[in-house]
Amino acid sequence: MARIAVTDGMADDAVSMLIEAGHEVDMGPVQLDGFDAVVIRSATKMTSQAIAAAPSLQLIGRAGVGVDNIDLNAATNAGILVCNTPGSSTQSVVELALGHLLASARHIATADRDLRSGNWTKKILKGTELSGKRLGFIGFGRIAQGVGKIAGAFGMELHAFDPYLPSHIAEEQGCLLHEDVNDVFRLCTHITIHCNLTDETHHLVNSDTLALMPGIGADGTTCGNHLVSCARGGIVNEQDALEALENGQLTSCALDVFEVEPAEDNPILQHTNFHGTPHIGAATVEAQNRIGFEMAELIIGFFNGDTPQSVVNREVLN
Ligand code: MLT
Repeated sequence: MARIAVTDGMADDAVSMLIEAGHEVDMGPVQLDGFDAVVIRSATKMTSQAIAAAPSLQLIGRAGVGVDNIDLNAATNAGILVCNTPGSSTQSVVELALGHLLASARHIATADRDLRSGNWTKKILKGTELSGKRLGFIGFGRIAQGVGKIAGAFGMELHAFDPYLPSHIAEEQGCLLHEDVNDVFRLCTHITIHCNLTDETHHLVNSDTLALMPGIGADGTTCGNHLVSCARGGIVNEQDALEALENGQLTSCALDVFEVEPAEDNPILQHTNFHGTPHIGAATVEAQNRIGFEMAELIIGFFNGDTPQSVVNREVLN
């Protein structure tokens, strides 16, 4: 029997699976001393101090994709395996990113705010079609490819920057891979972010890159420039994005993720052409069930002596 802490919530059925397999599960924020495994989402920060304070920990299960809230070096040095559930939320994030793209092009959030405040802005809120525009992806992994499939069906031209992706994968998806990230900004009126937050990608979207965006679609329509991020806070420099909204270089900016979360006093939230969601990319019934099931199976297998498939720090296995 292992002692498992679940600090940021988990689907009920997944918790039941762990208990039925004979494990003890503690829900909620707890001191991790004495636990064998911890399941976290993005709210819990597994810093080097948190890891040092949990000497019996063998496994950190990240119920989701991003592991930027885990000090991977500290975990590796302590011999703790870090595993995530990389594919379980893909479709949910794809659909949210598309929702933001559609909302941006047709001013859906602004229209809703106007309507609620008694303003019939039918004559003002002229949108543009996604069809015939260039969509630029920063990062072209699973989620971006899912967005690309649907955006391609809308008639968008697909461009991507992803230095880690073999070009044939992009080609197979009908997407042109660029070696220089600036070329994606130069060509595309719509940009969607799908990379990890790393030292390389921190503030990659800033006043310089935003200034390159053309404002005119591949079809010749003056559609303005639109930015969507459902990836990680910190990739978009929010101050620069706000300035670009203010000076008109950005027609819209839609964020699901913020450099500081929860985003409360962030001035970008007040701009009319901004709309956002509170980091809900993976917050669907389906994704949470898949994530919980995958994580519970992984933990049960691990304490039965199996090696999990989705190990982030493989060095620990050597
Ligand atoms: C993830 O990395 O899986 C998502 O951002 C979802 C989350 O952390 O809640």
